[in-house]
Amino acid sequence: MRLNDIQLAQFERDGWLLLENLFSAEEIAALMDDVPRIFALRREEVVREKDGETPRTAFAAQNYSEPFRRLGLHPRLIEPVRQILDGPVYLHQFKINAKAAFDGDVWQWHQDYGTWQRDDGMPDSRALNIALFLEDVTTFNGPLMFIPASHKDGVHGAGHDKATTSYPLWTLDQKTVSALAEEKGMVAPLGQAGSVLMFHGNLVHGSPGNMSPFSRTIVYISACHVDNHIRKFQRPEWIAHRDFTPIECLPDDCLVATK
Ligand code: SIN
Ligand code: MN
Repeated sequence: MRLNDIQLAQFERDGWLLLENLFSAEEIAALMDDVPRIFALRREEVVREKDGETPRTAFAAQNYSEPFRRLGLHPRLIEPVRQILDGPVYLHQFKINAKAAFDGDVWQWHQDYGTWQRDDGMPDSRALNIALFLEDVTTFNGPLMFIPASHKDGVHGAGHDKATTSYPLWTLDQKTVSALAEEKGMVAPLGQAGSVLMFHGNLVHGSPGNMSPFSRTIVYISACHVDNHIRKFQRPEWIAHRDFTPIECLPDDCLVATK
């Protein structure tokens, strides 16, 4: 799958791009069928909210779920990333975020590349996220919020917030977010299950807690150009991967094929 010139220009200008209904209901079901099992696993990769019960995120699920292994090699996700990053990519991080009904907690304002640079020694922001909505993302269930075009301003200063949620994060302060939002505005891309959202590693983003009765499962692939691989190995391998082999895609029907 290739992005057209208009889509490439939009990503370059805004730092994000929504591709609606890219995966079928059958493909989403193949993935969602395994989600309850994954979130029930008591293993270190499955991080829980502060209550110690509600699933927050399942890191590296490609290593313990066959449908998610296939998704990590899916051409509909990997080819547009290769196109934007202009070359071969490896899988830097893979996670399924739960944002559970009623109990899913906030993701504070941050930039992913800020973390990849500080914690993982990634040399440059030649890396990005491509996310697949496994459930509808609505106004109510904690959609991602972006400051459009904020990827143009490099890495902002950040503080390491270990207190707000169960997962430590390098977060931007209110003054920085206010100034950026005043200048550039804010968007919250919504879409049905099967839609795909790409965003630049430097894009400022966050998401509110989910007080609705609807969960908001999203799976994220963070892909990095192979030349830009991380140099620092302080975080666990299941958070910041150390296999820099270029991804080789499976066939387009891999999620629904029986073999
Ligand atoms: C993230 O920014 O890494 C996750 C945000 C979310 O899933 O809401
Ligand atoms: Mn993020």
